[in-house]
Amino acid sequence: LRARVALNPAAVVAPVNRRTFGSFVEHMGRCVYTGIYEPGHPSADEDGFRTDVLALARELGVTMVRYPGGNFVSGYRWEDGIGPVEKRPRRRDLAWRSIETNEVGIDEFAKWAQKADVEIMYAVNLGTRGVQEALDVHEYVNHAEGTELSERRRANGAEKPYGIKLWCLGNELDGPWQTGHKTAEEYGLLAASTARALKSAEPDLELVACGSSSSVMPTFGSWESTVLEHAYDVVEYVSCHAYYEEHDGDLGSFLASAVDMDHFVNSIVATADAVGARLKSKKKINLSFDEWNVWYLSRFQNAPLPAEWGVAPRVIEDQYNVADAVVVGNLLISLLRHSDRVTAACQAQLVNVIAPIMTEPGGPAWRQTIFHPFARTAALAKGDVLETRVDSPAYETARYGEAPLVDAVATHDPATGDVTLFVVNRSQSESVTLTVDLTAFGTGLSVAESVTLTDDDVRASNTKDEPDRVTLRPTADIPGGAVTADDGGVTLTLPSVS
Ligand code: AHR
Repeated sequence: LRARVALNPAAVVAPVNRRTFGSFVEHMGRCVYTGIYEPGHPSADEDGFRTDVLALARELGVTMVRYPGGNFVSGYRWEDGIGPVEKRPRRRDLAWRSIETNEVGIDEFAKWAQKADVEIMYAVNLGTRGVQEALDVHEYVNHAEGTELSERRRANGAEKPYGIKLWCLGNELDGPWQTGHKTAEEYGLLAASTARALKSAEPDLELVACGSSSSVMPTFGSWESTVLEHAYDVVEYVSCHAYYEEHDGDLGSFLASAVDMDHFVNSIVATADAVGARLKSKKKINLSFDEWNVWYLSRFQNAPLPAEWGVAPRVIEDQYNVADAVVVGNLLISLLRHSDRVTAACQAQLVNVIAPIMTEPGGPAWRQTIFHPFARTAALAKGDVLETRVDSPAYETARYGEAPLVDAVATHDPATGDVTLFVVNRSQSESVTLTVDLTAFGTGLSVAESVTLTDDDVRASNTKDEPDRVTLRPTADIPGGAVTADDGGVTLTLPSVS
């Protein structure tokens, strides 16, 4: 099979947003405890953070981390997590039927974020709480000094405010599973009044209103419309959440998951712009795709949470395979191609819980298959996103209709001249020869690097005992893999499911 793409440095979609490479740390399962934080672990630093995990988070290229939830945040009292650790209460976390020890709170997480060199995206509780508690946590983290809560932060060891700019106004309040679930009308009013209050304290905050928890929610689209009718003037973003899995062995549909992500983004952009038109507003609302990943959600739904209330139980520790990594790479392609409107995104989550990084308590940390496409894309997507229209053969999927076999996005960094093409082949049986026409870039181009993730066994995984079974390898080292360049561009072979 053959496919073709022509790139042009003048056809720019938008600059690559560094916030596209966000991740998510929720107080859930073992993401925090025995994930990022494990005092007593051989690699733990003076603050109890696992330095092996910190090193992998940096290698992953994560730029921003959403914290502290997720469903967890809708029952969370942020002030439980400040002050002397021995005085912090143990609480029930209803979302994940766990005991929260509060050993890690915002002060600890801010230290971790500084070590990991990531921006914090902070979520407030609009499930069981409201405007006052959002103002309180804002005063604690961002107010410089001289007030009750800013002085408490200083007394707790953080003299300077954390300067958190990006705030989520609650989490998934459209979902009946959410503690404090609301109608769109109720949430829209609460989000707008919380946003107004936060902006009275700090006008240049960037605020994210909750959008839909998935594109199959019955209120998908109407939820965003109602919420934005109330909050349009005071928020910058509406959130999107989407998780994908292979249903009933339908690998073809699963490999085309990015078709749904494209649809999700296009639908919410259209919805937000329609509200803007009705309100006669010149402002555009951007999308924060602040939960996305592969998640074998149906397995979780079939195996309810443990009956016992435990600390940091093993919850949704999905083990990823080659096909999952290809889908994750493709979801990143989708996010990048929408860089004009998707200007923040978080892969959910960072460690252990549906995560690219796995750990064993007291033991090693390793990279799941999905680590590799994320890390390479975060490292190489620089400069501008280019319009990338692939002329590709198509195939039929049960879930998404006809889908192209090859999907791609390119970036071009005018500062260095580097062009990077991120590309997937969704075919389960055929390799595809892709011709990349680069004549618009002039002559003298060469291939700096070409790497591919593929395997004869699409179900192959990385495990504690075999952590590097699946990784990116030089394309030329892969059986049948080839990449050649001439003055017109590049030709490369894409193995099936790669
Ligand atoms: O990331 C796991 C969970 O998925 C989050 O807590 C919730 O927001 C979503 O439903």
